[in-house]
Amino acid sequence: MGEPILLTTWAFGQAANAVAWPGLLAGGDGLDAVEAVCRHVELDEAVESVGLGGLPDAEGQVTLDGCVMRGPARCGSVCSMSFCPHPVSVARRVMEESAHVMLAGPGADAFSAAQGFEAGVVLSEWARARWAEWRARLPSPFPPTAPSTLGGPSGPPVGDARPAYNPANVSSPASDAARSHDTVAVLALDAAGNLSGGCSTSGMAWKLPGRVGDSPLIGHGLYVHPAHGAAAATGKGELVMGLCSSFDAVERMRSGASPREALGGALGRIREEHDLAADDQVAMIALSPHGEWAGAALRPDYRSALRTTTRDEVVPPDPVLCA
Ligand code: GLY
Repeated sequence: MGEPILLTTWAFGQAANAVAWPGLLAGGDGLDAVEAVCRHVELDEAVESVGLGGLPDAEGQVTLDGCVMRGPARCGSVCSMSFCPHPVSVARRVMEESAHVMLAGPGADAFSAAQGFEAGVVLSEWARARWAEWRARLPSPFPPTAPSTLGGPSGPPVGDARPAYNPANVSSPASDAARSHDTVAVLALDAAGNLSGGCSTSGMAWKLPGRVGDSPLIGHGLYVHPAHGAAAATGKGELVMGLCSSFDAVERMRSGASPREALGGALGRIREEHDLAADDQVAMIALSPHGEWAGAALRPDYRSALRTTTRDEVVPPDPVLCA
């Protein structure tokens, strides 16, 4: 039996790690730990880009994305679901109980209901109020109407006579989103030596309806290969999705790079290929099958939460590519 490790994005991951750690330390499966970490964050209303605290899209509808992965033949994902606040658990069920890898939108919600997940609140009062404030600031006639908070579509009711959302009226939804903490991604190495990973997010605040980011996309927001390593991303998905950054990092580990070198390389590709704005952020975590780990970022305002048998820490990124 080896030493277990939990590595989670952002400082809020430390409290979530604490929930999952006893089971992992006792020899539990890493996938259970990954799911427990994500579920904890999904219910934390203070985290404004995951689960219940997640800020909605421009029309006031929260859509949630998540995925889990154990290896190329064992992964599951959901995106644009609005039924319950636990996309990570539904993604795991897609992996374990369906013949598919990814379900989207109403199909994901229907699958979730059929699997017995209870419809639950997906839009907190706080997030709803933030959306109403944002919408009221828009320079177009958008009377803020209250989206519903229970499972099912959380946007305006059918037949709502408001004018259609016009992206030309939104100056920069990304700049609002850049202030949020973003995706929870977690990697685990369990005592049996299995690597597991998971992600959960509500995506970018005030996004265009229908927008999906990197987090539920296998190879982009998360990739796990049992023999070579695991990597996951948090931050602005649009910077990750053209580069398959998590797959890129694991491929670098497959070629002999350490997790730190692999993340430096994958983030370096993002810096090379994009004309980065000052607040553009992507951070990544990586874990090898031997327990080597790293957390790195484009910008310094990122932290990883690490839990091992000897450490319970919030760790600054290394390397940081854009000072
Ligand atoms: N990284 C989460 C997203 O861009 O949706």
